[in-house]
Amino acid sequence: MKIGVIGAGSMGAGIAQVAATAGHEVYVFDSNAAALERAQANLLATLNKLAEKGKIDDPTAKAIFGRSFFMNDMAAFGETGLVIEAIVEDLAVKKAVFKQVEGIVSADCILATNTSSLSVAAIASACQQPGRVVGIHFFNPAPLMQLVEVVPAVQTSHEIAKQAKLLIESWGKLVVMAKDTPGFIVNRVARPYYGEALRILEEGIADIATIDWAMTTLGGFRMGPFTLMDFIGNDINYTVTETVFQSFFYDPRYKPSFTQKRLSEAGWLGKKTGRGYYDYAEGAENPIAQQNKELGEVVFARILMMLINEAADALYWRIASRDDIDLAMTKGVNYPKGLLHWADEIGIENCVHMLDALHTEYLEDRYRCSPLLRKMARTKQTFYGKQG
Ligand SMILES: NC(=O)c1ccc[n+]([C@@H]2O[C@H](COP(=O)([O-])OP(=O)(O)OC[C@H]3O[C@@H](n4cnc5c(N)ncnc54)[C@H](O)[C@@H]3O)[C@@H](O)[C@H]2O)c1
Repeated sequence: MKIGVIGAGSMGAGIAQVAATAGHEVYVFDSNAAALERAQANLLATLNKLAEKGKIDDPTAKAIFGRSFFMNDMAAFGETGLVIEAIVEDLAVKKAVFKQVEGIVSADCILATNTSSLSVAAIASACQQPGRVVGIHFFNPAPLMQLVEVVPAVQTSHEIAKQAKLLIESWGKLVVMAKDTPGFIVNRVARPYYGEALRILEEGIADIATIDWAMTTLGGFRMGPFTLMDFIGNDINYTVTETVFQSFFYDPRYKPSFTQKRLSEAGWLGKKTGRGYYDYAEGAENPIAQQNKELGEVVFARILMMLINEAADALYWRIASRDDIDLAMTKGVNYPKGLLHWADEIGIENCVHMLDALHTEYLEDRYRCSPLLRKMARTKQTFYGKQG
């Protein structure tokens, strides 16, 4: 099957590399000639590097490059079985492109969007055959990240969603199915990792280095929240939070933080600008964690409880299955354990107590315990089997 990709930016180029590596002829279209040139040159450089490191052999590298075509029109999409769109995150622009591409592709071509935050239903509504439109959400960098969220819209036919899942699995990816709701699984469930860390900082309970230390050393997370936000970019991370907050009709659980907004406005975007929560200049002095175990445990437990609550609520609202929620967080963002597994280990009743203690303290809706956890505690259930 031939694959089309619209947009030769970071995501489009990465997705094209994945599809070409899986053996497909790939046609990449971008409205910007410079983006096409850059993507083609980057692909060549990446493949050469992989060959140098011995990860692939020379003929394979050449073959992958040889079946990747970079074009300034969409004519070749007439022969594709799947077109994945990865252009600017703007609903009006995406809808216009979907309308246009549907006039070129064959009747059985699947049309997919890589959107992170827009409604797949809204994008599909631009098409004559909205049943063939599906969300296929890769993570950055697409060639390295194992997880892909497949997101059927309300209009998507069951058959198309199934085909999309099977095809992406055949590319060696781990696919989870998610409901067409803001943030899908990962970008929703992960919000408290940043948001609660920021809240703890803003309240003066602990400083950035101590919070990062607590989450890595005591919690086993690969990167502390502030190091991770600096790595992702405070502009990008802030925008995702703000979009999720707005899309959830301003649910206080997702409320963005002024600290991060100001950092963004100041241009302290993180590693990429040399300054974020931390200073990345050579020889810069950065805060050192107070390795106070008692404080660290408080910080870790609070952030973890908010993550568990979010994961439980995603299950409660049927955003995804239990297994897919846990897989998404362990494979998508490398959490040390699935959050629902973790809840079982801690004990559902204990989770409810800790969340209720936060709620009692603050009397904010942000700390409301998921009805699912409360019901499970009452009926003595666990996520992965009955207790006792
Ligand atoms: N960057 C991420 O971490 C990430 C992760 C998952 C999903 N996404 C989503 O993937 C999409 C692309 O993101 P990105 O980071 O690759 O963006 P990017 O800015 O790197 O690339 C977008 C590309 O689309 C091209 N483009 C814009 N409008 C176009 C049009 N009308 N027709 C053809 N080409 C057009 C631009 O020239 C640019 O090359 C967005 O929907 C984004 O939300 C991004």
